[in-house]
Amino acid sequence: MGGDRRSIFSGIESLARRRSALLQIIDGPNPLEVEVQRILSPTEALIGNRPTKLFGTNNYLGMTFEPEVTKAAHDAIATNGVGTTASRVASGNLPDHYELEREIAAFVGKRCAIVFSTGFQANLGAVAGLCGAGDIVVMDEECHASIYDAVMLSAARKVKFRHNDVGHLRQQLGEIQADMARVLIVVESVYSAAGDTAPLAEMARIKADFGCNLLVDEAHSLGMYGREGSGLVNELGIAGQVDVLTGTFSKSFGLMGGFAASDHPDFFCLRYSARSFMFTAALPPPVVAAIRASLGRIRAADDKRGRLWRNVEQLRHGLRARGHATPDVRSAVVPLIFEDLGECYSLWCALLDAGFYANLLMPPSTAHGACIIRFSVCSEHTADDIAALLAAIDAWSSTRQMNGKAHHDDRAYSSPIGIVVTTRGSDTAVHRPIDPPRTGVTGA
Ligand SMILES: Cc1ncc(COP(=O)(O)O)c(C=O)c1O
Repeated sequence: MGGDRRSIFSGIESLARRRSALLQIIDGPNPLEVEVQRILSPTEALIGNRPTKLFGTNNYLGMTFEPEVTKAAHDAIATNGVGTTASRVASGNLPDHYELEREIAAFVGKRCAIVFSTGFQANLGAVAGLCGAGDIVVMDEECHASIYDAVMLSAARKVKFRHNDVGHLRQQLGEIQADMARVLIVVESVYSAAGDTAPLAEMARIKADFGCNLLVDEAHSLGMYGREGSGLVNELGIAGQVDVLTGTFSKSFGLMGGFAASDHPDFFCLRYSARSFMFTAALPPPVVAAIRASLGRIRAADDKRGRLWRNVEQLRHGLRARGHATPDVRSAVVPLIFEDLGECYSLWCALLDAGFYANLLMPPSTAHGACIIRFSVCSEHTADDIAALLAAIDAWSSTRQMNGKAHHDDRAYSSPIGIVVTTRGSDTAVHRPIDPPRTGVTGA
């Protein structure tokens, strides 16, 4: 079987070889395959049979165990069962589907919203349902994989601009202006690897200057920014200048599903051009009911937002006071950036060992070869949780200083073996068959 370049399995065989090689080198758990035995609360799970504090989820507002949310799911199961078994086009729409669409549209300040089964599918549906061959999508190079895939699916031409670089965006638009094509700019409001926000107000001005369209993915902003958590676009007061807004229910809402919203009077008909809406099963009754309950709670959750931002400040301040490299950005994602994967992995393991789970992001899933420990802060973390996390980082730092940084096995960490299935910034095929090992950035 192995080694046949014409086999459709040659790509994953190559990944499997890289994975085995990496597992032989790393001296500890695989950060991509952590087994969670049980989730105990929004901030705690059993990992390796030990209670572990969760600092690596997108459960920013801790909605996964919110009593009214879980009750809504239970009640909906009792009324309508657990699944829809087909798309809404085939099996019909529950009142909850339509209600959710009305509520989410009102929440983000748009005339119409369409609910999809995931945020990934919302981006596929919005971009590929609106754009086609002959159109141009101008996107931030660090956009999520769903946006890269959406552009590919749409057959539109893809033009990238440097991350958050409005000068480069203008330049790219200037160069394609003569093409007289329909142009869609696509950006995210908060980028989840480094937690930085897009200069959306300036981008909205640019879109107006060039007479093109703007789509903003609010995945990591809804719930936390703006009045009642209605997102960064609303906080900045630019909803009227954003043509399409997408989002997900898998992060601050604590569930799954996604949506696309717009003021266009015919936006409702996107459901007939978005294949990721028409040809996939609709969100199940307990999920739709729970999203509605979560939305209601989020709108009233100034208490949670207050705690979230206090927690973010405590962690960010604690890290910076200790001289750690974390960018000065305002989001619930607090990254620690390393030049060296060995250091990064060593801290990740030490934290897991001490009962703290964070995310380890490494090339090729990160831009510019960065190695990142990403902490996601939750409103339900306590000040003691964060103090304990900082103490665990201190303990790791002092061990490293005592032993000398060069203690680690260089063979392991300078190894260019990249096995990460690319999630961001990726128009590089992860299954490209016999790729030479890569060290650098994805998405070039
Ligand atoms: C910016 C962005 N858009 C879309 C998605 C996809 O959302 P979902 O998990 O609902 O498919 C994600 C998830 O990571 C994301 O970060």
